[in-house]
Amino acid sequence: MKGVIIQNMSFKVGQTMTIVGVAKPDAGDFAVNIGPNKEEIVLHINPRFNAHGDENTVVCNSYQGGIWCEEHREGGFPFSQGEEFKIIIEFTPTEFLVTLPDGSNIHFPNRMGAEKYSITNIEGDARLCSFEIK
Ligand code: GAL
Repeated sequence: MKGVIIQNMSFKVGQTMTIVGVAKPDAGDFAVNIGPNKEEIVLHINPRFNAHGDENTVVCNSYQGGIWCEEHREGGFPFSQGEEFKIIIEFTPTEFLVTLPDGSNIHFPNRMGAEKYSITNIEGDARLCSFEIK
């Protein structure tokens, strides 16, 4: 894992995580990863300005048992290079609800079914400004 790693965190069902960052002026992509440990990701949110063959697409996925699982691609692309963004994340035992900077939502399954996750990682072409769990 590269970038900012927040560990020994307690993000529980019913809580709200708010991440504010700024995408680099020449950003290709960045990602927010949430998981139970450093080896597994239950929620990968990957805004791609221009990366992995995609343009202006938000890709979500999980990484379990050493492999990327089935991707979800939903909604628009309310991110701009060089601009601040806010991502809000909530979850239940069955689903993550992600609110993007324009207020639109992405629903992504909680494939591990846990009620608490302990690692958040912000990687790639963005700078973290604030991180809060309430
Ligand atoms: C891959 C990419 C990973 C991750 C994954 C999501 O192509 O290398 O970083 O974004 O897609 O499915």
